[in-house]
Amino acid sequence: MSIKLRNRSKRLCLYRTNYEVEYVTQKERVAIIGAGPSGMAQLRAFESAARAGADVPDIVCFEKQADWGGQWNFTWRTGLDEFGEPVHSSMYRNLWSNGPKEALEFADYSFDEHFGKPISSYPPRAVLWDYIAGRLEKSNVRDQIRFQTVVRWVDFDADRQIFTLTSEHLPTGESTTEEFDRVIVASGHFSFPHMPTFAGIETFPGYITHAHDFRGAESFDGKNVLVIGASYSAEDIGSQAYKMGAASVTASFRSQPMGYEWPEGIEERPVVERFDGSIAHFADGSSQHVDAVIMCTGYLHKYPFLPDDLALASPNNVYPDGLYRGIVWHQNPRLMYLGAQDQWFTFNMFDVQAWFARDLILGRIELPSEVDRDASIETWRNEFEKISTVTEEIRFQAEYIRDLLNATDYPHFDIDRVVEIFLAWKNDKKNDIMGYRDRVYQSVMTGTIAVVHHTPWIDELDDSLERYLNEDAEAGASNDDEEPSSDVKELVGA
Ligand SMILES: Cc1cc2nc3c(=O)[nH]c(=O)nc-3n(C[C@H](O)[C@H](O)[C@H](O)COP(=O)(O)OP(=O)(O)OC[C@H]3O[C@@H](n4cnc5c(N)ncnc54)[C@H](O)[C@@H]3O)c2cc1C
Ligand SMILES: NC(=O)c1ccc[n+]([C@@H]2O[C@H](COP(=O)([O-])OP(=O)(O)OC[C@H]3O[C@@H](n4cnc5c(N)ncnc54)[C@H](OP(=O)(O)O)[C@@H]3O)[C@@H](O)[C@H]2O)c1
Repeated sequence: MSIKLRNRSKRLCLYRTNYEVEYVTQKERVAIIGAGPSGMAQLRAFESAARAGADVPDIVCFEKQADWGGQWNFTWRTGLDEFGEPVHSSMYRNLWSNGPKEALEFADYSFDEHFGKPISSYPPRAVLWDYIAGRLEKSNVRDQIRFQTVVRWVDFDADRQIFTLTSEHLPTGESTTEEFDRVIVASGHFSFPHMPTFAGIETFPGYITHAHDFRGAESFDGKNVLVIGASYSAEDIGSQAYKMGAASVTASFRSQPMGYEWPEGIEERPVVERFDGSIAHFADGSSQHVDAVIMCTGYLHKYPFLPDDLALASPNNVYPDGLYRGIVWHQNPRLMYLGAQDQWFTFNMFDVQAWFARDLILGRIELPSEVDRDASIETWRNEFEKISTVTEEIRFQAEYIRDLLNATDYPHFDIDRVVEIFLAWKNDKKNDIMGYRDRVYQSVMTGTIAVVHHTPWIDELDDSLERYLNEDAEAGASNDDEEPSSDVKELVGA
């Protein structure tokens, strides 16, 4: 057990481990909770300022997994891990990016720089993990991360304006309590399943799981699969089941169907009214025998390490309430959140947020008064409430990012072109839901046009980095006929 106490006025720290006491001169201390893409963006932001000569605070990043990458750090485990800790990642073996990589590319580290050659637009999970990690591997920020260390509790002392953070090193069980001036929550919000119930499900004799615990669809070969939900997990897990030979895939929607032109073998039905043994009955009066039910019903914002006055409580949307500029906890601006939004933009949005958070901490950006923060939240909230289409939601997130980008020195990139890519992507999905991952786009950062992958997504059963990068790989079925997307031609002005 070690305890770190601080005398802020003297900027001294009393550090006590195994009866040893030492005094350390103390700079401002910042805790980052989570080393997924958001936490890594924060580390990168401070590192780039330090490289440019800035005096940056002491940073400690707590990561409960053994490696960085957050969701992208795949594990075969489900439920509880080897320490009895809830498993974080919801990713499955065969996951490929569901949006074009050109929409998430870092502005300060391109795919070209990382891979040294153009790659396709929809890389598998392992390839994206390699890319995220590659940006930090050339620096020493890994030293700032305490791996396998879970944050258990954070308290705020309003008189001293100090956070007390208790963490546990999982392999040893040792817990540590120490003080921080700022806390940045980058713990993600796609890990705690939202698990609704349905009449009769308690006697359903087949396999029931949530998308969070889905790891692969191979066992669905020949089975009738029901995915409940009409968003990305339902779309992709249903497609995985189809790809792996499911006898049928039924997708059950609550509000509205996904509406794609599904191949034979996949169909959409309204909400499940009840289960009767292995028969699912739907709201339109139809029924279907099913062997497996996958709840693709989304996730809960959950911060078990935060008291309720610091914990964000929001549905999954692009403007969670209570965050100034989508980052700063309005009730206590010493606490910040990264990546708390529902995500069209991802990695480059986390970057822009991290740069903004850094600049607030470094005093490069002034925090407005409470009244002005309120007004800003209100203005954005009003715009958010006007959103009625997906395109408007993408544009809203683009404007949100532009607003932050203009306030920082994060390398500027053409946000409008990224929006065009998103719209072309939506169109490609509408035209061919099983083939959209074979399309290619042009990088906004470098101008490079992605290459058509050697094997169509539907035929590729080996999702490894090695296979992906192997130019001599034999295509499962030739992709030579794949025409670059007409949208790409538009994007490059051809
Ligand atoms: C199934 C799935 C597929 C996705 N696919 C895509 C995609 O194709 N393209 C895309 O751009 N985005 C995708 N996403 C979105 C994804 O949310 C982001 O890409 C990104 O991973 C979010 O980064 P993050 O750092 O905010 O959160 P996360 O990636 O969730 O990382 C959070 C980190 O915090 C750590 N942590 C949590 N609690 C604690 C604690 N108490 N103490 C210490 N550490 C803690 C976790 O271990 C984790 O490492 C997908 C998400 C899911 C769930
Ligand atoms: N390959 C990939 O890259 C990939 C794959 C999977 C997921 N993801 C990512 O993972 C994140 C989460 O996506 P998600 O699809 O899991 O969650 P989500 O986008 O929050 O969607 C949840 C879905 O569940 C439905 N739902 C909730 N409660 C329900 C109920 N009681 N009955 C029926 N339906 C119900 C919702 O319907 P309503 O519309 O009615 O609310 C919605 O369709 C996203 O960022 C996504 O991009 C990526």
